[in-house]
Amino acid sequence: MSEKKETIVLIVDDEKFFLKKISDTVQALGYPCLTSDNADSALNNLRDNNVDIVLSDVVMPERSGIELLQRIKEIYPMTPVVLMSGRADMEITIQALNHGAFHFISKSEDIEIANALTKATAFNRSISDEVEHRLGLERKLSEQDTRIKDSMVMVQDLTVELVQRLTKMAEYRDSTTGTHNARLGHYSTVLAEAAGLSEEFIISISFASPMHDIGKVAIPDKILLKNGRLTEEEMDIIKSHTVTGHSILRGSTHPSIEMAANVALSHHERFDGTGYPYGIKGEEILIEGRIVSICDVYDSLRSERPYKQPYSHEQACDILMNGNERTRPEHFDQELLKTFRKVSRNFDEIYTSLQNDQRSGKNIMAFKLPQLAS
Ligand SMILES: [Fe+2]
Ligand SMILES: [Fe+2]
Repeated sequence: MSEKKETIVLIVDDEKFFLKKISDTVQALGYPCLTSDNADSALNNLRDNNVDIVLSDVVMPERSGIELLQRIKEIYPMTPVVLMSGRADMEITIQALNHGAFHFISKSEDIEIANALTKATAFNRSISDEVEHRLGLERKLSEQDTRIKDSMVMVQDLTVELVQRLTKMAEYRDSTTGTHNARLGHYSTVLAEAAGLSEEFIISISFASPMHDIGKVAIPDKILLKNGRLTEEEMDIIKSHTVTGHSILRGSTHPSIEMAANVALSHHERFDGTGYPYGIKGEEILIEGRIVSICDVYDSLRSERPYKQPYSHEQACDILMNGNERTRPEHFDQELLKTFRKVSRNFDEIYTSLQNDQRSGKNIMAFKLPQLAS
């Protein structure tokens, strides 16, 4: 909103007599005014004061009223400039109007001056009303925008919390895995980023990978928590966590949940076709499954299990790259394995920093939330 109460008029005329006469007329009409006897002084006055209307003579030495008008239109395009002349000259009138003069009047006619000032004042008011209206609309839009952003943040928080609680539920069933699921979110994000996958993919895999073992909720405790060697039949039941996880998560229209279903199904498939549940190989296994497979095996190698001691980072990397009696490098996508090698230090950092956060209640998920525009 404009804080100005009065309309200030700048009068420009090289003839002292007219300068005085016109300023008396303008003041008598109730407008405070400033005066300049040349174009340069007028521009200084415009720069230093809040001038609302310019009344300028056309014929002046050095710079003419038309030149002044052109300059004013460049610097203050919304300020109405009324050009005045001592004589009615059609050519000058047309030139003035063509250069954007608000009006062209005779400077000796007080009534013309009064009319021009009334019109210019009304014009200024309509402009400031328009600006105020626009500012009001912008304010409303920005308030709306803030409300929408707040709601989106709330929905994001809700989503994060739900996935966190869902994966925690799976972890409660199997206390030996600790924050394995959350760590998988971090590893997968790092590996997907290093592999140059799209931002959309990275966001999805950061959500999807912590749910990879969700199907374990359906495995009976006596098998899931068994402290000894599993029979072949029990092993088959354990393996069913892939298809169970898939059936829990499949059919969503949300890309991250759809990816979670794929990851649940394929994270134990192996690149050489020796994995489960379907024994598919190579690029038949979706990239998200191939990524989570490397991360899952790395984390299992690092972790203590009822059947094994934890391996160091170096040992885990060596097993992934060169194999041991259970794990072969051929199980993995070779390109991804090369990428893993490049960023393996980050895996170690993730394992070390998140290992101690088990059940601390701290949000340790890796979710790459889409950035809300500020
Ligand atoms: Fe699994
Ligand atoms: Fe796992």
